[in-house]
Amino acid sequence: MLETITELSALRARVRQWKREGLRVGLVPTMGNLHAGHYSLVMLARQYADRVVSSVFVNPTQFGPNEDFTRYPRTVEADKSGLEGAGCDVLWLPTVESMYPFGVELASNVHVPGVSGILEGEHRPGHFDGVCTVVSRLFNQVQPDVAAFGKKDYQQLAVVRQMVTDLAFPIEVLGGSIVREADGLAMSSRNQYLGAEERPRAAEIRKALLDMREGIEAGRPRVEVEATAAKRLNDAGFVVDYTVVRRLDLGLPVDGERGAKVALIAAKLGRTRLIDNMEF
Ligand code: PAF
Repeated sequence: MLETITELSALRARVRQWKREGLRVGLVPTMGNLHAGHYSLVMLARQYADRVVSSVFVNPTQFGPNEDFTRYPRTVEADKSGLEGAGCDVLWLPTVESMYPFGVELASNVHVPGVSGILEGEHRPGHFDGVCTVVSRLFNQVQPDVAAFGKKDYQQLAVVRQMVTDLAFPIEVLGGSIVREADGLAMSSRNQYLGAEERPRAAEIRKALLDMREGIEAGRPRVEVEATAAKRLNDAGFVVDYTVVRRLDLGLPVDGERGAKVALIAAKLGRTRLIDNMEF
């Protein structure tokens, strides 16, 4: 049975009890409006923990002033039944007041330098500060042994890993594989913003990633591969933020360099901003 907890004292009591019993605790932080990608993270956490807590909190500090904080979909009843089905033990539903007891303006801020400043960080200034600020609080509230994050937010996972190492959180971070729709579109709560005419076109992002992989593997220059992907998306009606190929640590590869890479794309289709990536 899924237990829903809204008070921090009750959450702490539940986790203390589990730890007394010698059980390992997993955390899956989310902003709700859950889909198969989130549920796969619950199942991943389950493999490394005896009990799984999933948090649902639409975190105001990670949205920019012109972003979708107020219209972000909130579907807590559906989330509860999905979490129950995925084998989650506790839904942690904090209030804004319990997350930010001094208010958002006076909240202590967690900033991870370097990796936070590139790509998403350039297009969404302050976004990763908001993510790290809330994730560090969730870590302190839940005190998990492991925490699972989706690889669709590839850079977020890198930022969280750096924070965990730097601030010595005693937590193992797991990255869950991207879950895709039948046509290849990466699952995301934001997909439902897409209009009926936009939705089929959104699958172009995945095709552009496959092209990028093919181009690099065929030895074409990185900048050319990146520009071709941007053109493909522009021609399909996207407004492109970036189409890049990076090393897995998000460092810039030199042309011809061997070793694993990741192609990353962020682009808007109408009012919807989509991100996706592919490791190869
Ligand atoms: O990936 C998300 O949904 C959010 O950025 C997270 C990690 C739950 C923090 O609010």
